[in-house]
Amino acid sequence: MSFYKILVIGDVGVGKTSLVNRIVYNTFTEKYKATIGCEFGLKVIDINGENVRIQLWDLAGQDRLGGISRLYCRDANGALVITDITRRETLDKATSWKANIDENSRLVDGSHIPMILCANKYDLTNPHSCMTQEELNEFAGSRNFLAGIFTSAKTGANTEKALMMLVTEMMNKC
Ligand code: GTP
Ligand code: MG
Repeated sequence: MSFYKILVIGDVGVGKTSLVNRIVYNTFTEKYKATIGCEFGLKVIDINGENVRIQLWDLAGQDRLGGISRLYCRDANGALVITDITRRETLDKATSWKANIDENSRLVDGSHIPMILCANKYDLTNPHSCMTQEELNEFAGSRNFLAGIFTSAKTGANTEKALMMLVTEMMNKC
């Protein structure tokens, strides 16, 4: 059985824990409880008849001096960088979260680990008022994310899609 480690990162309150809970337990709560340090979620998925174990590292979004430590990034195979569609500044910060991981993790061939940008809380926006899929693609593509995907931990929209796209790419890379 193969095993992969995925980092889940982004600013405070963007919905990292909620996305992990949606993916692992298929649940959601409106109550906010800040993550302290790091929590873990384990998900086993079936890819072409093969069981793949995914360990999700849900890191606290609170500002940490010097960014994410090398220890957290060690042996990571991929990352979900989460932003909150209702707070533009969290999208701009996605770039520095990515740079921070790029600094601290590399694959054996020297390339960076694949990352997907999740524009979360998509359920909260009026489709006409928020960024379009083209704008999100352009933002994500120009910053070397594998993709930019609108997600909602509340409704579950696209959460599976984001995970599967990342895992597929990770499997190709390893
Ligand atoms: P830290 O652990 O402090 O870094 O925060 P976090 O990124 O883990 O955020 P968390 O998942 O705790 O969610 C913060 C708040 O946003 C909670 O009140 C959630 O209910 C809410 N929330 C998260 N995802 C969504 C979503 O997709 N839609 C809506 N409407 N609310 C969401
Ligand atoms: Mg959290």
